[in-house]
Amino acid sequence: MKTILITGASNGIGYEMFKILDKKKYKLLLVSRNEEQLRKIKDESPNKDLIEIFSMDLSKEDAAQKLFDKCSEKEIEVDILINNAGFGIFGQSISMDNNRLKQMLTLNMITLASLCNLFGEKMKQLGSGNILNVASTAAYQPLPYFSAYAATKAFVLSFSFGLREELKKYNINVSVLSPGPTKTRFFAVAKANTEGILFNPSHHLTAKEVAEKGLKAMFSGKKVVIPGMRNKIMKAFSFLVPASATAKIMEKQI
Ligand SMILES: NC(=O)c1ccc[n+]([C@@H]2O[C@H](COP(=O)([O-])OP(=O)(O)OC[C@H]3O[C@@H](n4cnc5c(N)ncnc54)[C@H](OP(=O)(O)O)[C@@H]3O)[C@@H](O)[C@H]2O)c1
Repeated sequence: MKTILITGASNGIGYEMFKILDKKKYKLLLVSRNEEQLRKIKDESPNKDLIEIFSMDLSKEDAAQKLFDKCSEKEIEVDILINNAGFGIFGQSISMDNNRLKQMLTLNMITLASLCNLFGEKMKQLGSGNILNVASTAAYQPLPYFSAYAATKAFVLSFSFGLREELKKYNINVSVLSPGPTKTRFFAVAKANTEGILFNPSHHLTAKEVAEKGLKAMFSGKKVVIPGMRNKIMKAFSFLVPASATAKIMEKQI
């Protein structure tokens, strides 16, 4: 029976991934900061014996190593790693709280890359593995007022594409899920303006739709999936128009 680690499993897209995978009776390792919520999720599952929960703040610099060490102590071998935990900060970059900025950069990039490296090495030893990294459509062009967040997701995309080629020979797949605006707590956490055209809730996909597409892509070994036609068009647009021009256009849409 395969073991799947999901970061950010307490809410939103990660929680929907949990629900899909729980029905398929995998061994699941759920990670987020909210222990109470993780415990509730576990207790409500008919497969609670297959679920392990770790409450941790993954925005701390040593978080990935701590999580990896915890798995080693408990002799948990992770076959599938889903790097989903992440958050954004909306607003003028110059007004941003630097501690919060550092937490976002650490969670979205350093923890994600370190978990890939630590568990990737283990997967290499085991002879197979699968990794799904959650980026965003924000990864494809600069995004004013989400400038640092978009840059973290550009990192996730580029890192994952490179890693995918490096790990192929070890029978390890790396896929990327690039959601567009999705109905979760994301915009509330980011304190984002959702009244403009770009992030208007009227065109948000559900977390369930996004989770399904991401898991399907990962299990079929697809390089990247962008759920939703509108989001696919936005991505195509970013390839046709220079990044500097896209940034100017985006600034007017938010
Ligand atoms: N929703 C969107 O529009 C959208 C679009 C593109 C990409 N994404 C990406 O999708 C991923 C999931 O986000 P979501 O939309 O599902 O948002 P969400 O509902 O806010 O869920 C975020 C998850 O990450 C966990 N998390 C946040 N900070 C953490 C930390 N410091 N340590 C450990 N876990 C932490 C949260 O759990 P706790 O609060 O319990 O720690 C929660 O389970 C993120 O990477 C996000 O960037 C979202």
